[in-house]
Formats: sequence, C-alpha cells, structure tokens
Amino acid sequence: MPLPRVTEIAHLLVKRCLAPGGHAVDATVGNGHDTCFLAGLVGPGGRVDGFDIQPEAIARTREKTTGFPQVHLHHLGHELMGERVPEPVEVVMFNLGYLPSGDKSVITVPSSTLTALDAAVALLKEGGLLVVVVYPGHDGGAEEATEVDRWFARLSPETHRVVHFGPPETDDRKRESPYLLAAWRER
Ligand SMILES: C[S@@+](CC[C@H](N)C(=O)[O-])C[C@H]1O[C@@H](n2cnc3c(N)ncnc32)[C@H](O)[C@@H]1O
Repeated sequence: MPLPRVTEIAHLLVKRCLAPGGHAVDATVGNGHDTCFLAGLVGPGGRVDGFDIQPEAIARTREKTTGFPQVHLHHLGHELMGERVPEPVEVVMFNLGYLPSGDKSVITVPSSTLTALDAAVALLKEGGLLVVVVYPGHDGGAEEATEVDRWFARLSPETHRVVHFGPPETDDRKRESPYLLAAWRER
C-alpha cells in the first residue's frame, strides 16, 4: 500500500474536528477539492468560507460546489479572512503554492500567508484545528516554507499543540517534498 499523501493526512485530521452543522475555512480553494470535502463534512446546516485570489480558482470551485448552499466563496486574499468570516470556526485549511492546471507563476507568498495564519489562529474555537500543506519544491516555495515553519514554532505550547508530517530533517527529500503542519487550539 503506498504511503498516504499529505493532503490525505490533512483530510484525516480535519475529519476528527468537523461535524454536521460545523464551520470551516478553506484559505486556498484552488480547484475546489478541499472545499467540497469540507462542505460534505459540515453538511447543508453548516458553513464553509473559501478564499482565492484567482478568478479561475473561484470559477472552478463554484462549478464543483453547485448545490452546496453551505459554501460561501470570496474572491479575495486569505489575509482578509478575519474581516469576512463572521464567527469562530472549527477548522482552517491552507494548501499553499500554485493552482494545479493554472498559472504556476501565481503562488502563495510569505507576507500574505503569515498575515492569514495570524487571522486563522484568531478565528479558531477551542479544540479547533489549523492545517497547512506546504510545498517547498517550486520557485519561492522554500522561502515560504521557512517562514511558515518559523510561524508555527512561535505558537505557544500552552495554547497550541503542533505536529509535523513529512520527511525527517536528515532526509534530503525534505527540501523538495510537500509536508503538513497542524496546530490544535487547546485553550
Ligand atoms: C495548491 S492551490 C490550492 C488547492 C486547493 N486546496 C484544492 O483543493 O484544489 C493554491 C491556491 O492558493 C491561491 N492563492 C495564492 N495566494 C492567495 C491568497 N493571498 N489568498 C488566497 N488564495 C491564494 C492560488 O490562487 C491557488 O489557487
């Protein structure tokens, strides 16, 4: 059996924290796979707020989520989620990098990603989960990965529990392979 992809691990973690009627944020909707997954978990009585800066991503996700009234798409940078999301949430998901089958020069960048991560932790309910899939392998990806690692390292262990899924530091593939960082808000 092949190793699970980090996006699958992200889904496993999210599943434990989201139930029908819940509220989640997809900070990078892209092709809409994660938005659909979140919408399925919260059901018609819940809510998913999705953000992306590319009209193409919003259009693809809108098409995929037709018939999901719980999905609210925002053609905006995720750094504005604090202003647009009306209440605390159980889950915030980020899938960084570029839009697959899209313009690979449009990537998430540290300045807005870090602002969005600050907004995301502020939105989390107690017991809520932040998951971030990080891609260090593309141009600009390694710089963003370093900044995101540092941001997670600054979270206080008294309030957040942080885990990392990916190759160990000593593995050369660490520099190329996607990995996942997650933080649960404990208090
Ligand atoms: C790897 S893709 C996301 C994949 C997506 N989660 C899925 O399930 O298909 C990354 C996305 O982040 C978007 N993005 C880049 N900068 C952004 C920003 N400041 N705010 C929101 N989305 C951004 C890109 O446009 C791209 O669609």
